[in-house]
Amino acid sequence: MLLDGHDPAAIERAAARLAEGELVAFATETVYGLGARADDDAAVAKIYAAKGRPAGHPLIVHLAEAADAAGFAASLSPVAERLMDALWPGPLTLIVPRRAGVATAAAGGHPTIGLRTPAHPVAHDLLVAGRRLGVPGIAAPSANRFGRVSPTTAAHVAAEFGDALWVLDGGACRIGIESSIVDCSGPAPVLLRPGILARDRLEAAAGEPLGWPDERSPQAPGSLESHYAPRATVRLMPTGMLHAALKMLGSERLGLAVYSRSVASGVAPGVRHRRMPARPEQAAHELYSVLRELDAEGVQLIWVEDPPPGAEWDGVRDRLTRAAAR
Ligand code: TXA
Ligand code: MG
Repeated sequence: MLLDGHDPAAIERAAARLAEGELVAFATETVYGLGARADDDAAVAKIYAAKGRPAGHPLIVHLAEAADAAGFAASLSPVAERLMDALWPGPLTLIVPRRAGVATAAAGGHPTIGLRTPAHPVAHDLLVAGRRLGVPGIAAPSANRFGRVSPTTAAHVAAEFGDALWVLDGGACRIGIESSIVDCSGPAPVLLRPGILARDRLEAAAGEPLGWPDERSPQAPGSLESHYAPRATVRLMPTGMLHAALKMLGSERLGLAVYSRSVASGVAPGVRHRRMPARPEQAAHELYSVLRELDAEGVQLIWVEDPPPGAEWDGVRDRLTRAAAR
């Protein structure tokens, strides 16, 4: 069921439903989340069941405001506090030590917890209304089935889970790819997942360099190689290789789409073409809806031109690489 996320009465109904331990999906500035009250292990179990997500893969807990982190975090390092001060509310998740006995299922049993204060008014209003009903935070992964492309519209969520699920519609997500994740639970901060907030901006806010994930870093499903994948096969290729491949293409090639910055339209008869935006913010914003549209059009294979070098493209490059790793 779609609810208007800008209608205060709809927010109240959705908050009450969450407080009762039911699932509600909602808009955030990154992607839509599939939420349950974070302090209720039985409610959180419904998320894992709906998504088909393996148990033990931790969820992000969404907060109305930064001060609410104290209810979940055992401690906050100076780096975590600097990042929170500079970039919350916004598309940044921090992994911090978890308060013992709190939100165990949401954290997948890990001694740490992922926290984020979303900047979208629908998410924010839902969190504030929930807090008034005693909900301390909302555990929410992206509202898609495990391994699939994250939803950036309410219609995408309905396509994943059907009409029975309540969805607070907040329009198309402004950012379009998931939050950047910084692990602040160890001796030095590590960028686990790039997002639209690129490494340089995060490091400026943190006041120190961020490390790279290694085999000791927490295992996150979002960092599994094959993830964020459409049904079509994705091949990521350098610009020169893409142009060479297109030259060799026979007109018999059916079910192919090209997503590229440098290829002009009219590729070859029967080949679909989407122009990749020149700016990473626009590319992130449309990425998942383009993949979903091509799936809906029955495309079998998507040739994607490598995004340009540069940290500001890291989030888009990361999602495309994982989509291609299937
Ligand atoms: O933008 C986003 O982050 C969206 C919106 C809904 O907020 N959420 C999202 O959630 O992308 P999800 O579950 O699809 O991805 C969350 C990632 C996963 O890779 C998960 O493993 C990681 O965060 N994560 C959460 N808690 C963690 C923890 N305690 N330690 C390590 N990784 C954690
Ligand atoms: Mg996800």
